[in-house]
Amino acid sequence: MRGTNIKLLIAVIALSLLGISETIQAQFRARDPGVRGGSAGAGGAIEGLTAEEQGLFAAGLEDFEEVDGVGEGLGPRFNLDSCLGCHAQPATGGTSPAVNPQVAVATAFGARNVVPRFITPDGPVREARFRYKADGTRDGGVHALFVISGRVDESGSAAACGIEQENFDAQLGRNNVIFRIPTPTFGVGLIEQIPDRVITANQAAAFLLKRALGITGRANRNGNDGTIARFGWKAQNKSLLLFSGEAYNVEMGITNELFQTERDETPGCQFATVPNNVTAGNGGGGAETLSAIEKFSFFMRFLAPPIPSASTPGGALSIGRGRQVFAFVGCGLCHTPTLRTGNATVAALRYQNVNLYSDLLVHQMGPGLADDVVQGGAGPDEFRTAPLWGLGQRIFFLHDGRTTDLVDAIQAHRSGGTLKFGPSEANAVIDRYRALGEAEKQDLLNFLRAL
Ligand code: HEC
Ligand code: HEC
Repeated sequence: MRGTNIKLLIAVIALSLLGISETIQAQFRARDPGVRGGSAGAGGAIEGLTAEEQGLFAAGLEDFEEVDGVGEGLGPRFNLDSCLGCHAQPATGGTSPAVNPQVAVATAFGARNVVPRFITPDGPVREARFRYKADGTRDGGVHALFVISGRVDESGSAAACGIEQENFDAQLGRNNVIFRIPTPTFGVGLIEQIPDRVITANQAAAFLLKRALGITGRANRNGNDGTIARFGWKAQNKSLLLFSGEAYNVEMGITNELFQTERDETPGCQFATVPNNVTAGNGGGGAETLSAIEKFSFFMRFLAPPIPSASTPGGALSIGRGRQVFAFVGCGLCHTPTLRTGNATVAALRYQNVNLYSDLLVHQMGPGLADDVVQGGAGPDEFRTAPLWGLGQRIFFLHDGRTTDLVDAIQAHRSGGTLKFGPSEANAVIDRYRALGEAEKQDLLNFLRAL
């Protein structure tokens, strides 16, 4: 009799304890702590540069921040008038700032552009790509938002140019537009120096575990030389010089050593010789002899990686636990914490640990994230594992900037297959994340915002 009573008592106590812990759980929900305050842990030059390399970094920084106008070759179609405008948060070289400069540039200096409705003052900087052409074949290319028609700035006048903007409303109505936000360029010189064999060895590591969780991934190899491309949301570009040449041409409309002819050659809308910017085109000696795209590349190549915080947000203990949760759940199977550079010519980039949190492979991410755009070897539903370093000071997440909330960004990794796209490779890992207690999730989120 007495024995049963005690058992009953224990059962009742156990049950009520469970109830209490459930109430605590219901009250406490893990939340994204938000953009980490304090000074920007990014923006300076990497340690160990020679005086000459420091000079190239400084010359590159100046050009990266420079605003170009009509007389320097801006347009005829463009998305913005400086690299800095899109790569600004939390310091020069970063990603989308809190206030979108594309709103002001639309009508600056008398230009008559309408701001497309996917561009808002407090939304992310965006470039637009069209999925398909009118004839039903794949497009995938960048369609610039603005034209220079009517713009008269300090460097030149496009008053005589009459080209018109793309009709984005019509394309949106056909569900034919996808968006990309800027990726940050901190530490990219180190990423450039990771040998292909380091990427493939990391891909082969933990093979059984990856297979059990449905994670494969593959390198986006350059179609001509067969080596691994690694920059951009789909790892579509091989080098910083190539990205610089392409960005100068595509985002700003300025032709250069790598892209010699204009994207839009309408005769009445050209106000500089072609290519617009060239080597030895600036008069001065030394670094001034270099063309802008080389200088942009040097700036980014020597730009230091972001410095993580040891204690903010949530304290060192929580961040430390979060790092373990990140590994335990399996995030690190795609977001590889560290890869190593090889025998780089620049000493500051040689045999360095690169704490990028990416395997630099593209993965099938399911219909929820798929944008139906093919770039090189990357398919319509594949994306490069986004490097997570510097995450704590980023405002917008995922390739199209659809959210500012880390929890949403994580949940968006999960989607089942449809007729058109297979299921996301991240599904099993995200199920493991969902099974965590709220306190563990909070540790993980604190860890991510400390990066
Ligand atoms: C209108 C905004 C805009 C401007 C201006 C701009 N970028 Fe970007 N940048 C982007 C976007 C968007 C991406 C991601 C593109 C993608 O992968 O589809 C990007 C990506 C990059 C990357 C790839 C980094 C990585 O690791 O993935 C580099 C490098 C880069 N930009 C350099 C430049 C340089 C140099 C300039 C100036 C010539 C410039 N950008 C101007 C929007 C911009
Ligand atoms: C199968 C590989 C894979 C796994 C597993 C994975 N990720 Fe990702 N992650 C990606 C890819 C690919 C992207 C870019 C997706 C996009 O932008 O469409 C990404 C993007 C992100 C972003 C947004 C970064 C940015 O720059 O916008 C965050 C945050 C993130 N992952 C966190 C996590 C966390 C936390 C986990 C574990 C719970 C995880 N990921 C598991 C592949 C993976």
